[in-house]
Amino acid sequence: MLIAPFATNPPLMAEAVRSSYQALQWGKNLFAIAHKTLSARLLGTLFPTEERTQPLTPELQAWIKERYEALLNQDWQDADAGFYPASLLFDAPWQEFFQFYPTLWLDLPQMWQRARSRRFQEFAASIPLEAYPPYYRQNFHYQTDGYLSETSANLYDVQVEILFGGTADAMRRRVIAPIAQHLQCQPQLQPVRILDVACGTGRTLKQLRYGFPKAALFGIDLSPTYLRKANRLLAEQVGDLPQLIQGSAEALPYVDNYFSAITCVFLFHELPAPVRQQVINECARVLQPGGILVICDSIQALDSPEQRPMMENFANLFHEPYYRNYIEDDLNQRLEKAGLLLQQVQHHFMSKYWVALKPESVPLPRR
Ligand SMILES: C[S@@+](CC[C@H](N)C(=O)[O-])C[C@H]1O[C@@H](n2cnc3c(N)ncnc32)[C@H](O)[C@@H]1O
Repeated sequence: MLIAPFATNPPLMAEAVRSSYQALQWGKNLFAIAHKTLSARLLGTLFPTEERTQPLTPELQAWIKERYEALLNQDWQDADAGFYPASLLFDAPWQEFFQFYPTLWLDLPQMWQRARSRRFQEFAASIPLEAYPPYYRQNFHYQTDGYLSETSANLYDVQVEILFGGTADAMRRRVIAPIAQHLQCQPQLQPVRILDVACGTGRTLKQLRYGFPKAALFGIDLSPTYLRKANRLLAEQVGDLPQLIQGSAEALPYVDNYFSAITCVFLFHELPAPVRQQVINECARVLQPGGILVICDSIQALDSPEQRPMMENFANLFHEPYYRNYIEDDLNQRLEKAGLLLQQVQHHFMSKYWVALKPESVPLPRR
């Protein structure tokens, strides 16, 4: 088992932590449901259009509830096993929430109008769009300025918290245990260097920092405003700052065989299929032999067609131009094509995880 750097709680204490965590999560979930209900009603009143979502069957609703409870349980268990401190369970972007929640409401009418008229390439004139790949120059989620403004960076975590009913960090934390377990039996991967690809506002790096306090952490993202936000978040913690760099995941600016581990959370569904392959190839290149890659992204229709209505609703409500292709895309094959060995696939709530290793001697990838 894991050599836990954090003390394990005695049973009563552990139960108290579990119950408090559950209560907090239920509170967040209720808030998210209230927000979604209210905003859907307002949208229906202000911009009456045809219904764009399908109702979820009772079976699907029961499945969601079951997966939600299982995620919370796993999160608590991993903290209890010492993969990260229990205090992390109670961490959330609270400040963002209280500071920017009103801005979210103020921005909603613009997003709705954009969604209604299917405008998804609207950016402030001051944003130098030519610096970014064409597939990226879009208002993902119909967000104002896509990923390219301070306001978007400020609203992102609030929006994601609401979308996932307060479970976004719990899903991000699922990347920690497979890496910890792998590093434990691979001394050649010391000193540990972990790269988070498409680090966004830095929330995965924050979780990784608690899970691997001695590791050197790195983050890369295309958005300068999201990186600035990440920098501010990570500077709140004591210790060495992760090295953040602006760059593209399909041309990683690092030397070959450098990282012990790589994570990539919620990126792949926002990439065109060929770019997904390029990103995996690049991760394979910069991973050390024996290193580990953990990808976390949305569940896929190819595993669970019965959950398709939920995925369709997501694609219909948010501007996610590559999502429908993603949910049918076989990433196992892409990993294999890049010369990586798939170790396991996990599912936690709305996310799927691919855990892959770079073999000690690497055959050249088939490109
Ligand atoms: C849905 S967000 C996920 C952010 C973060 N990983 C998280 O867990 O919240 C997608 C992120 O990917 C970044 N991104 C999209 N395409 C990229 C690319 N080709 N290279 C680097 N970053 C990219 C965006 O700027 C954005 O920050």
